[in-house]
Amino acid sequence: MAYENIRLDLEDALAILTIDRPKALNALNSKTLQELESALHALPATVRALIVTGGGDKAFVAGADIAEMASISAAQAREFAALGHRVFQTLEQLAIPTIAAVNGFALGGGCELALACDLIYASEKAKLGLPEVSLGVIPGFGGTQRLTRVVGKMRAKELVFTGERLDAAKAKEIGLVLDVLPADQLLPHCKAVVGKLLKNGPLAISQAKRVIEYGADQDLRAANELERQGFAVLFGSEDQKEGMKAFLEKRPAAFTGR
Ligand code: HXC
Repeated sequence: MAYENIRLDLEDALAILTIDRPKALNALNSKTLQELESALHALPATVRALIVTGGGDKAFVAGADIAEMASISAAQAREFAALGHRVFQTLEQLAIPTIAAVNGFALGGGCELALACDLIYASEKAKLGLPEVSLGVIPGFGGTQRLTRVVGKMRAKELVFTGERLDAAKAKEIGLVLDVLPADQLLPHCKAVVGKLLKNGPLAISQAKRVIEYGADQDLRAANELERQGFAVLFGSEDQKEGMKAFLEKRPAAFTGR
């Protein structure tokens, strides 16, 4: 399918989704969000990992589109926020691992997009933050909640209250990004991480993601119960049989995702 504001490139089991409106620093307008939603729903079943990044050399995503938001009503704002939430939840709940390759500005909705991915890596040029209060609003695509879960309540309040833009090193220091790479090594690094995880059982990774995601919002007992169920379910898979057999036969496993 042809998109205007995003690009989807397939490299075997890896999909690279690029938000590609560089003239507006990849700002998320409704059309871009709708295209993202379609692309996420239409990912081929052969895709086992997704990297999300920004087009051009300046931005990952500089936020929701301020020009579009400037004159909307409260009712339209609710719809716009709902659209973003729906898209980011779809991203977050994909059964495959997702990586944000933050190659430049990741502000407001852009930072929120990264936060909806499983792993975040940043280039040395990256700047991350939630500057919405400087526009008289608050984050509206899940940032107040996902940022809090990643960096803790007090740090999230500091970032949201001040709207401060963090450089990549500071973002790493507070645990908002995992690692910082020179710009030309960001994508290769993300692909290397994908290469590592693709060696493992896709069903197992998918269960691990599900259990960590859902478990993080529950108390420890309920969360551990989720883990027990996820662990047991995998024993109904061919991958579990293959993985353990391969270990005992001292050879690499050939997982099929069944
Ligand atoms: C629309 C944007 C944009 C945005 C940049 N542009 N960010 N357009 N929405 N979020 C456009 C600019 O208007 C400009 O267009 C072009 O991209 C290049 O940007 P410049 O500002 O000229 O670049 P620069 O001086 O290098 O500054 C980069 C920047 C700055 C620091 C990233 O653009 C900036 O502060 N952007 C806004 C960041 C922000 O506040 N994000 C949060 C948005 S609110 P022209 O046509 O002039 O060339 C949000 C809410 C989410 O995300 C929840 C919603 C429900």
